[in-house]
Amino acid sequence: MSGHGEAQPMISGRSAPLSGVAEVPGDKSISHRALIFGAMAVGETRITGLLEGQDVLDTAKAMQAFGATVTRHGLGAWSVQGVGVGGFREPADVIDCGNSGTGVRLIMGTMATTPITATFTGDASLRKRPMGRVTDPLALFGTRAYGRQGGRLPMTVVGAADPMPVRYALPVASAQVKSAVLLAGLNAPGQTVVIEKEPTRDHSERMLIGFGAELTVEKGAEGHVITLTGRPELRPQTVAVPRDPSSAAFPVCAALIVEGSDIRVPGVSQNLTRNGLYLTLVEMGARIDFENPREEGGEPVADLRVRFSPSLKGIEVPPDRAPSMIDEYPILSVVAAFAEGRTVMRGVKELRVKESDRIDAMARGLEACGARIEEDEDTLIVHGMGPGGLPGGGTAQTHLDHRIAMSFLVAGMAAKAEIAVDDGSPIVTSFPIFEGLMNGLGAAIRRG
Ligand code: S3P
Repeated sequence: MSGHGEAQPMISGRSAPLSGVAEVPGDKSISHRALIFGAMAVGETRITGLLEGQDVLDTAKAMQAFGATVTRHGLGAWSVQGVGVGGFREPADVIDCGNSGTGVRLIMGTMATTPITATFTGDASLRKRPMGRVTDPLALFGTRAYGRQGGRLPMTVVGAADPMPVRYALPVASAQVKSAVLLAGLNAPGQTVVIEKEPTRDHSERMLIGFGAELTVEKGAEGHVITLTGRPELRPQTVAVPRDPSSAAFPVCAALIVEGSDIRVPGVSQNLTRNGLYLTLVEMGARIDFENPREEGGEPVADLRVRFSPSLKGIEVPPDRAPSMIDEYPILSVVAAFAEGRTVMRGVKELRVKESDRIDAMARGLEACGARIEEDEDTLIVHGMGPGGLPGGGTAQTHLDHRIAMSFLVAGMAAKAEIAVDDGSPIVTSFPIFEGLMNGLGAAIRRG
């Protein structure tokens, strides 16, 4: 898994015009949830299109350690023999979630209301990330957690033997925290309520309903009120994982900035809790056609035609859009560097606690490539240099962050000089076919 192996330097040079079809892999968020909800159901869940990125493989291994049977039948085709709500057994060894915040936080929630103890760890990136945001609400169920200073991994979680249902208003806009509380609520009696002021990705809610849980969402003055009735028997499902809009963002943004490009990206999610980047790009003047709208795997999707867009303009990204594009700010910052004028991203301090401090990583990397950046705790501002205008010629430090690595490799495709990244190895966590897919479209990405 990433961070345990050798660093892999990579270099991206000026790209030919991109053409062809970019078929990106399955959605990471939905893939984690398909395995976890499958493990909570009674019987066999069948999954197609599962993302076989390292993050998801680590979650599959964890589900086995808690007693589910997880089997791979072919590329993306997996099955999970679930143990039922409350049926987890105590793992015999430490659970290593690698690079994945989603994996560790959702799994902590899932085991939190079962009387077992588990110890979690991860790579150097995950061991820096705050877990208190999950263990604080889990404590309300009666769960105890013992971690390092600042609520860091490694951490031992002792599940509640006699859990209470919980009412919890999220202090941060986080789908991981929301999902951890809902997953813990599955094995608590009565109704667990989660309130979110700003809507975050809603895959857990959609999938829990699909697996047969009683869950309602009401929109009121305080935001979304999500009510889950505990101790359901979850029914196994057939899950067709749609493609990942966060992965699609890389070929889409590359086509916008590489002169002469014209590509198609099929099956991109139009889920309103995930499509903020696409709204933003259109507002900037991106030439994207949304064709053939339909449902796939329970998600609204469209096929995208994306063309080189020579008149991109910097904009102020509305801060309330942040949850619906939280993983896309790094690649948006790259597009911003090739737009005219300033792109202002406010209300983005959550970026500081992702796989890396993404405000800092993008600011330092873009500066190394010749861009002018302004930042504060909660803001990133990129001064655009117009089409083909970024000088390049620098090396970006990726800090074990797949999205930082991919963003700078895309930047190198349109910059005046090559751009290097110190370590592209984390790309396998979410988009293992990135290099081949991008080079197949016309990119010139190579190992350094
Ligand atoms: C995710 C939620 C988001 C996102 C992450 C995936 C999920 O994290 O950044 O990549 O699948 O629930 P936060 O909940 O920390 O915002």
